[in-house]
Amino acid sequence: MPSIDTIIANAPGTACAPELAQGPWVFDLAAPGYGPGASMGDVIPTGAPRQGALPAEYQRATNEELHERIRAAKRTLGDRVVVLGHFYQRDEVVQHADFLGDSFQLANAAQTVPDAEAIVFCGVHFMAETADILARDGQSVILPNLAAGCSMADMADIDSVEEAWEQLTAIYGTAPDADGRVPIIPVTYMNSSAALKGFCGRNGGIVCTSSNAATVLEWAFERGQRVLFFPDQHLGRNTAKAMGVPLERMPMWNPRKPLGGNSASELEHARVVLWHGFCSVHKRFSVDQIARARAEHPGVRVIVHPECPMEVVDAADESGSTDYIRKAVAAATEPTTFAIGTEVNMVNRLAAEFPQHEIFCLDPVVCPCSTMYRIHPGYLAWVLEELVAGRVTNRISVPAEVASDARVALERMLAARP
Ligand code: 13P
Ligand code: SF4
Repeated sequence: MPSIDTIIANAPGTACAPELAQGPWVFDLAAPGYGPGASMGDVIPTGAPRQGALPAEYQRATNEELHERIRAAKRTLGDRVVVLGHFYQRDEVVQHADFLGDSFQLANAAQTVPDAEAIVFCGVHFMAETADILARDGQSVILPNLAAGCSMADMADIDSVEEAWEQLTAIYGTAPDADGRVPIIPVTYMNSSAALKGFCGRNGGIVCTSSNAATVLEWAFERGQRVLFFPDQHLGRNTAKAMGVPLERMPMWNPRKPLGGNSASELEHARVVLWHGFCSVHKRFSVDQIARARAEHPGVRVIVHPECPMEVVDAADESGSTDYIRKAVAAATEPTTFAIGTEVNMVNRLAAEFPQHEIFCLDPVVCPCSTMYRIHPGYLAWVLEELVAGRVTNRISVPAEVASDARVALERMLAARP
C-alpha cells in the first residue's frame, strides 16, 4: 500500500489541495496560515508560532538521503534521544519513530525514557506541550516544525475562556448546592494549549482525551452541576448525549457573542456548555459518505472518531478514539470491510497493516490534517543533526507556573481513570 505522500505525488487531482505535493517548507515563509490540507480554510490566530526557513540542504535532499541521515543521527545519539510519532503522521516520518501512538500514549511514552535528554515529538504543538509538562527536569521536547499547531486547539484561547468563565460565574455564582456540587466545572480536551489545561487545574477542572471523555464527564458531574467543555463541541456533544444529556441542555458558547449567543435562562438550564470549536479533518465526514459506503459495500463496518459531527457518529456503527479504532480493527477475527472516519494517514496505514481486511477512508478525497502534514523527514533530519552538533532547536517549553497548574488537571484525569 503506497503512503499518502506517494499517492498525492503520483495521482494529481486526488487530494483536496494540489499544494500538498510540495515540500511543507514552501509554506513556512508564506503568509501565516495552516497550509494545505483539511484546515486550510480555518482562521489562524495572530501570533501563532511560525517556522523559520528550513536549511536548503534538507529541502533539496531526496527522501532516501534524509532517511539515511536520520538513521545515522539516531545511531550517534543512541539513548540520548527518543522520537515519538502520532498515528496521523506520514509514513515517511513514522518509520523513524521509537513509539507510535495517540496523543496521550505518546505523552506517557515520553515518561518511560527518563534517560533521554531530548524528546523529538512528531505530532502537533499541544502534544509537545503535554510531553514537556510531564517530562522530567532537564529533558527538552522538540517539535520539528513549529508551524505544526492544531486548528481546533487554536479555536479556544485563554483570554476568551477566562471571559466566558467570568460571564458564566456571574450567572451561576460560586456557592455549592445541597450535595456539595459547585455550579460549573471546566473540562478541556487534550487538544488545547497548556494555558487552558492550567486554567482547568486552577479552577477545579480536568483534562480529557477522546478515549476517556465519558469517565471524565462523570468525574465532573459528581463534583459540579454543569460543565464548560472546550474546545471541541463535537466530542463534548457526542459524549454527553451518549450519557443521556438532552441536546436542549447543551447550549453552544460562541466566544464572539455576549453570553456566548445564549440567554441567561438557557445557560441556567444547561448541563454542558459546549465551546464553538471543531476539527476540520473530522468535519469532512458526512452521513452521505456513510450511506454510499453501505450501498457499495454491504456489511461494511463503519467506525468514526468522536470529533465527527453528531449526525455522523449516529449513522456510524461505532465511534471511538484513534486507539479504539486501531484496537477494533486488530481484534476483528474474520475478514471484514471497514470504512473509517479519521485522518487518512492512519487509515491507510491500518489498510497496509491488516491486508486480510478491506479498509478505506470514508472521505473519498485525500485531505490530510494540514498541521500534521507540516512535519516531514527534512525537519526531522534537521533537528536530529542539530542535536548531534550539540544544539537544541525548536524547543517547546511551558512556563513553570502554567505547567504546575496544567499538571494538576492532567493528574486529575489520570486519577479519574476507571
Ligand atoms: P488522539 O488523542 O486520539 O491522539 O487524537 C488527537 C487528534 O488530534 C484527533 O484529531
Ligand atoms: Fe487538530 Fe484535527 Fe489535526 Fe487532530 S486532526 S491535530 S484535532 S486539526
